[in-house]
Amino acid sequence: MSQGGFACQPPPDVDTDDCLQEYSYLFSPDILKGKVAFITGGSSGIGFRIAEILMRHGCQTVIASRNVQRLTEAAQKLSAATGRRCLPLVLDVRQPQAILAAVDEALKEFERIDILVNNAAGNFLCPASSLSFNAFKTVIEIDTLGTFNVSKVLYEKCLRDHGGVIVNITATLSYKGQALQAHAGTAKAAIDAMTKHLAVEWGPNKIRVNCVAPGPISGTEGYRRLVPPQLEEGNLHQRIPLQRAGNKTEIAHSVLYLASPLASYVTGTTLVVDGGSWMTSENDFPALLDFWSTELKKDK
Ligand code: HXC
Ligand code: NAP
Repeated sequence: MSQGGFACQPPPDVDTDDCLQEYSYLFSPDILKGKVAFITGGSSGIGFRIAEILMRHGCQTVIASRNVQRLTEAAQKLSAATGRRCLPLVLDVRQPQAILAAVDEALKEFERIDILVNNAAGNFLCPASSLSFNAFKTVIEIDTLGTFNVSKVLYEKCLRDHGGVIVNITATLSYKGQALQAHAGTAKAAIDAMTKHLAVEWGPNKIRVNCVAPGPISGTEGYRRLVPPQLEEGNLHQRIPLQRAGNKTEIAHSVLYLASPLASYVTGTTLVVDGGSWMTSENDFPALLDFWSTELKKDK
């Protein structure tokens, strides 16, 4: 298979939660100059890279999640690499009071917030029949309610008055009813729907609301949890039209596009960034069930 194709070459990335060692600008470096972004789950994985790429394009950021140590370290790395301010704030997206307090603190520091990236999520492989009521509820609460909670607080505290952009990170899990993903697939599908509702209601306030739905993205907790090693060693990548996993910078570039004026007339949509994966990848319930029960036995 050809290694060429300038428009399919992934930008360089690193698998750890560290900033990029090299970065070549594809967009104007000033495209988000003076803007402030609030990124949930911005201390790790895809969220960390989104924060870095937005900051490299002139933006200042707030990163918000539960683990204070990871947040503090991430903020230091991000500021050191980009020369922009990054404010780490502890919150659980399931707790509206904590979100209200964090947004107040962010507004004290930055005066306004222009961009919200709802990236925080929780997930694991589990067949629907083995999910406890609380397990299903937990994922819905973090992903779906969390996205609504943070969007509503930011809408009321600033976006309503001066406009802005919301980018929700979803997934393609529900498109084919991915096995062992009833909880996360349901949660993310609801966010895709919420995106359209909010785009309609908040468009007149000059707020655009969109989603990015990543496929399998290397160097992430999601990939480690959801892609069984035997699947990775097998023909996972050959089954993807673009023949590889994606990387975090590719997701961050898609968020940058949607957050920027390049997407000034784009709202209420989901940008699938998966190399075509969802259309061709296997959805093998017996094989995944087998993998899951073997792992369960190892844990006992
Ligand atoms: C089955 C599980 C489980 C598992 C937890 N539970 N892990 N059930 N299999 N592996 C159950 C628990 O038993 C409990 O139910 C309920 O879920 C809540 O668990 P807690 O540990 O109390 O919840 P909490 O501390 O809030 O943690 C949330 C979490 C955790 C989702 C369970 O894993 C987490 O914090 N995750 C954040 C990081 C993460 O998941 N990153 C990956 C995102 S990737 P009971 O009944 O016992 O009380 C992603 C990719 C999408 O979203 C697509 C990829 C292609
Ligand atoms: P990750 O590093 O685990 O990211 C999840 C982030 O959310 C973490 O920083 C976590 O930080 C935070 N978080 C979790 N629960 C939270 C809560 N209740 N309140 C506040 N913050 C919370 O995993 P990732 O793989 O990069 O995933 C990032 C996003 O991409 C998710 O929305 C995921 O669904 C989506 N996605 C990923 C893939 C993939 O291949 N990786 C594919 C499709 C979609 P704390 O634990 O410190 O709170």
